[in-house]
Amino acid sequence: MSLARRVVIHEVGDPEVMRIEDAELAAPGAQEVRVRQTAVGFNYIDVYQRQGKYPLPLPSGLGHEAAGVVEAVGAAVSGFAPGDRVAYMNAGIGAYAEARNVAADKLVPVPGGLSDEQAAAVLFKGLTAQYLLRRTHRVQPGQTVLVHAAAGGVGQILCSWAKALGARVLATAGSEAKCELARRAGADLAVDYSQPGWTQRLLEANGGRKAEVVYDSVGRDTFEHSLDCAAPFGLVVLYGVASGPVPPLDTELLNRKGCLYLTRPSVFPHNADPATLRANAAELFDAVARGWVRAEVSARFPLDEVVAMHRAAQSRATQGAVVLVP
Ligand SMILES: NC(=O)c1ccc[n+]([C@@H]2O[C@H](COP(=O)([O-])OP(=O)(O)OC[C@H]3O[C@@H](n4cnc5c(N)ncnc54)[C@H](OP(=O)(O)O)[C@@H]3O)[C@@H](O)[C@H]2O)c1
Repeated sequence: MSLARRVVIHEVGDPEVMRIEDAELAAPGAQEVRVRQTAVGFNYIDVYQRQGKYPLPLPSGLGHEAAGVVEAVGAAVSGFAPGDRVAYMNAGIGAYAEARNVAADKLVPVPGGLSDEQAAAVLFKGLTAQYLLRRTHRVQPGQTVLVHAAAGGVGQILCSWAKALGARVLATAGSEAKCELARRAGADLAVDYSQPGWTQRLLEANGGRKAEVVYDSVGRDTFEHSLDCAAPFGLVVLYGVASGPVPPLDTELLNRKGCLYLTRPSVFPHNADPATLRANAAELFDAVARGWVRAEVSARFPLDEVVAMHRAAQSRATQGAVVLVP
């Protein structure tokens, strides 16, 4: 038995509900691996779960994604040995911790060219972009895609990967500086959606052409605009609700806006099967190696500053990928 510091919430609410506690860490079970975590990926879902918008049984740890070094392996584990560098994004809540036992089949090896921080910055968000661009809608060269919150962690990856796939990429973000980041990530056009009239400005700048697929992670503030930006028979992918949930929908609206399709997907079922997780991760790491996806860390916070990290994310002060360093 050893001790590891980890973030725990006993109640939902503001960032201050996150406490750092010492937890006893048992030896890994037969199918488990103990990971000494060197970088923990922040994902916006961590905010929803801390706030209680996506309820968790309490008390609970937080966080879905981390990278680090294998410290010990269970008796029935093959394929991993102490010293291996590994990462995960779908192994259950509790990644905000110094060390943790994780089911071996939820781990992927970190490729040689990537640091642990880069792996923790790119795995969850990159696998999100992977299923959104390759499965929810298989983006084809010449298609137009619209990415909201395009300077964010997932947003920048969507822009660069969609561009590499040959799409024309339209983007929105919450300030001109963030629009510039979206352009640098690969967006052909970016507009500040905090300014009124952005839908019209975006479509005019694109010669009136709408998008075959709209990737909307903002929810309440953007959803109706997303329907207006989708081409006839286009797909609106509501994959996040950073501004709040979308009110109940009159499905006739989909008809009136051009016989649109709508889906509300999640990264977890797309990576639940271990073989599929490994195949998807291989596709992501290949995209990183080709330069289609940049595995970049834009900000680091020590474990003790987890509250500041959540405050920054929630106040829209972050851009790109943020990691917690245990
Ligand atoms: N369904 C899935 O499979 C899945 C998987 C991963 C992530 N997601 C979703 O994808 C989105 C991006 O995730 P991420 O981790 O990369 O986070 P992120 O994009 O880095 O951060 C969220 C961004 O949302 C924008 N936003 C718009 N309205 C907001 C509001 N009222 N409050 C806070 N932020 C607001 C902000 O960008 P601006 O300042 O530019 O507006 C903010 O930076 C999140 O909504 C997340 O839940 C979904």
